[in-house]
Formats: sequence, C-alpha cells, structure tokens
Amino acid sequence: MATSSQLHVAIVMDGNGRWAVERGLPRIAGHRQGAQVVHDIVAAAPGLGVTALTIFAFSTENWKRPPDEVSYILHLFVSMVTKWLPELVSQHVRVRIIGDRAALPGDVSASVEAIEKRTASCDGLHLNVALNYGGRAEILLAAKTFAAECAAGTATPEELTEERFDSYLWLKGEAPPDIVVRTGAESRVSNFLLWEMAYAELFFLDVLWPDFKLATLDMIVQKFKSRNRRFGSL
Ligand code: IPE
Ligand code: IPE
Ligand code: MG
Repeated sequence: MATSSQLHVAIVMDGNGRWAVERGLPRIAGHRQGAQVVHDIVAAAPGLGVTALTIFAFSTENWKRPPDEVSYILHLFVSMVTKWLPELVSQHVRVRIIGDRAALPGDVSASVEAIEKRTASCDGLHLNVALNYGGRAEILLAAKTFAAECAAGTATPEELTEERFDSYLWLKGEAPPDIVVRTGAESRVSNFLLWEMAYAELFFLDVLWPDFKLATLDMIVQKFKSRNRRFGSL
C-alpha cells in the first residue's frame, strides 16, 4: 500500500484516434498529439505530488489494429522518450517499460533497453510506460513463473503470498496505483493493471487524451484527496 507521501497515478490514454478523425486528420496525428500531452504531464506530475506515473501506451489487444498504426504507435513512444531523455534525466525521471518485450520489433526493444539504462539511477518520478502490456498476460506470467519454481523444487504452493506474487509482475517494486484515470469517454479498464488496481480510485473522463490538460490532473488529485479510502474497514 502507498504511504501518504507516495502517489501513484495510472492512466489509460484513450481517444487519440477520435481526436484526429474529428479534425479530418489521420489517426496517427492523434497519437502524435497524445505523446505531446505525455511530455507535459510528466514534467508537471511531481509538482502535483505524483511520485509514480504509469501510462498505457499499447495493449496486448492493440495488435488487432492495422499494421501501419501498430508500427507507428510502438515506434512513436520509444522515439519520443529517446528524444526527451536529456530532459527526463535532468528531471530525475526513472523510466521503466512494462509489458511483453519478446514481441516488440527489434529496434523498439533495443531503444527500451537504452532508455531504462540511461535513467536507471534517477531518483525522481517513476514513469512506467505500458507497451504491449496486458493485465491478464502479466498475471499469467506471474503464475507461470511461480509454477516453474514449484516444479523445480525451489518453492512450494503454500509459500505463495500476495507480496510474493507482486514480485513476479512487470510492475514489481512499485506500490499499486492510487488513482486510475481513463480518458476517451469509455467506462472500462481494457485489461490494464488488473491485479494492481484492486483498491485504486477510478476516474472516467469524457475528454479525449490529446485534449487532456494539466488542470484536469490537478482536479483529479484534489478529488482523490477528498475520497474516503476504507480498504474494507469501516
Ligand atoms: C488510445 O487511443 C491509444 C491506443 C489505444 C494505442 P485510440 O487509438 O484507442 O483512440 P480511439 O479510442 O480510437 O479514439
Ligand atoms: C486501451 O484503449 C489501450 C490503450 C490506451 C493503450 P483501447 O482503445 O485499446 O481500448 P478499447 O478497445 O476501447 O477497450
Ligand atoms: Mg481507443
């Protein structure tokens, strides 16, 4: 559980395609504008008390889209983050990419490694970019990893606790999200952080991601502070 000094915000950045289509632009223009919003949010998040930011950039289900769009999104995120690296390092942002890397194009996974290496010792905001991420895939991976340890005789089923299960997740080491935001006027989680969001406060917004403003994030953080989180108690 997060301590009061930690604040983990997770965002399903939805609505890029609609934002572009509304303007008569190709869908990729929406993704490009959406990436710019990420840049601005990352810079402002620490000032709002956010200590970890996890953003959903590409899901395990997004491979169902046309290959051009898939390739554009996968390359967009790593190329933008690579471009921002000097700035991110000066802001002490530690970047981690969560998701199944095995299926990423070779140049994308090479960039992922370089980004993580360059920011590994940064001690400021934790920026987790979910790329080829699925909540079910993450849970399955954890189950398979533990099952393999049991099969190898290095663990027994009774030893599995929630804390140990956490340690097999891509998002290991991060406190669970306090806030999950979804833009794009859909009230669903679309396979994001299924294990981790058990007690997150949810915010579903009508705004399309490229139109998301810092003031909206500020408003969400203020509303979050006034919510009464009981975690099952009275
Ligand atoms: C979110 O925007 C970005 C990804 C899912 C990669 P969309 O591309 O889903 O935009 P809409 O929902 O079609 O408007
Ligand atoms: C969720 O958006 C995934 C990301 C934002 C990366 P989608 O647009 O893929 O979700 P659905 O298809 O509307 O559920
Ligand atoms: Mg969408």
